Amino acid sequence: MKQEKFATKWGFVLAAAGSAIGLGNVWRFPYLVGQHGGFAFIFIYILMVAFICMPLMIAEISVGRLSRSNMIDAYKSINQRSGAKHSSVWTFFAGWLGALGIVMITSFYFLVAGWVIYYLVQALTGSLMQSSSREIEQVFTGLTQSFTQQAFYALLFLCVTAMVVLGGVKKGIERVSLILMPLLFLIFIVLAIQSLMLPGAEKGFDFLFKADWGAIGFTSNGFDIHQFAKVCLAALGQAFISLSLGFGTLLVYGSYMSEKENIFKSVGNIAVCDTLVGILSAMIIIPAIFSAGLEPSSGPGLTFISLPIVFGTINGGYFWGIVFYLLLILATITSTISLFECIVNLFISKFYQSRPLATLSASLLCGTGLTLVTLSFSGVVDIRILGRDLFTFFDWLTSTFISAIVSFTVALFVGYQAIKPMQCSILRGTTKRPFLMRYLFITLRIIAPVALGILLSIAAYDQILKPISIKFMIYYEHIIRFILG
Ligand code: PHE
Repeated sequence: MKQEKFATKWGFVLAAAGSAIGLGNVWRFPYLVGQHGGFAFIFIYILMVAFICMPLMIAEISVGRLSRSNMIDAYKSINQRSGAKHSSVWTFFAGWLGALGIVMITSFYFLVAGWVIYYLVQALTGSLMQSSSREIEQVFTGLTQSFTQQAFYALLFLCVTAMVVLGGVKKGIERVSLILMPLLFLIFIVLAIQSLMLPGAEKGFDFLFKADWGAIGFTSNGFDIHQFAKVCLAALGQAFISLSLGFGTLLVYGSYMSEKENIFKSVGNIAVCDTLVGILSAMIIIPAIFSAGLEPSSGPGLTFISLPIVFGTINGGYFWGIVFYLLLILATITSTISLFECIVNLFISKFYQSRPLATLSASLLCGTGLTLVTLSFSGVVDIRILGRDLFTFFDWLTSTFISAIVSFTVALFVGYQAIKPMQCSILRGTTKRPFLMRYLFITLRIIAPVALGILLSIAAYDQILKPISIKFMIYYEHIIRFILG
């Protein structure tokens, strides 16, 4: 089967940046910044991106480009090329787990994407901005409890995404990214300037750019390592989701990348754009929230409850509201395209389906996933795992565990097993090769696996073992009390 490729030099970078920039930046990043003390969180986030995520992105993209294979068979293909003995551990933990992660993310991502269309419709009719704060809260609660409305908008988003992906890599994904990404940047900058000019926005600006080190554990009573680890974990999980790292998306786009492209430069461009957009989104949302006298730490509702309140109070709120939700739709669609393409790519190359058939199969799979998530989230059917509804469970599992385990495996694979056969392809088009190799060696062999290992263990202890053991202790106490009468 002939492998599809991006046609232009900017094709890969814009498509991968399009994948990276999405709800993660505009919806998730600002509320995490709000919850974890502003600048201190941004600082930790940048460190995570530079020393852990960028080398991992280079690794994942180069596995795709060298193997020109799908996210599951890529590891085997590279080992076969170099004559190394293949172990299915790589395929399982990097390939299959990534594929599972992609299906989970897609299922809840389309749900949130659907909310954005709903909000755009509300903004267009003007009904959202005219409501009182209480009504706006009720709109959000009402939406999240309605299965039909959520399923309708999510399926609509799925259909539009499927149509673009049906067009293929060059005519669909690349063309859409080339137009949307520059447009997106422009709207982001206009909105950020508009938000910073609001009365009282300085307080938000201060919150964003004055560090509160106490929030990350450096308090006057000493260093709180638990708090520090918690923030690092949140920042790392966010960086993975935001950069589309650890799910095979970069591997798939890497397999469409031209042989001539410099991977280091491309990764630098993607990471800088993605981080800038995250910070710009926070600069749009947080000063506006302060200006309206609201709390920045209100969590996931920031974009869907607090922001409409802001639009309702500012001059020209009707217009800016529409621009904002339109922007959010544009950012979201380039991400859903990449998620969906990953699944389509798998059906094409693993199950030998044609692109139209693969698009249909992926639509059925994602449609089923998002219906289950919507049923569980809206409370219509009581589906719960570990006490969480499916939306919360998938978000938690993918951002905390799956992306980290996949990336941990890819770091070990490229760092220890395949660095020799991959070296030439990774370094293509670069200068300062010894320096870059040293950077990769240190980050992929030591920094990334050690950091991921520690953070994963803490997360597993805090979020799985501890709650289970507490539950166990409670049962144990009940039994003892029962026996003792
Ligand atoms: N990076 C996207 C965002 O920030 C989400 C995403 C994750 C897309 C994984 C593809 C793969 O919204």
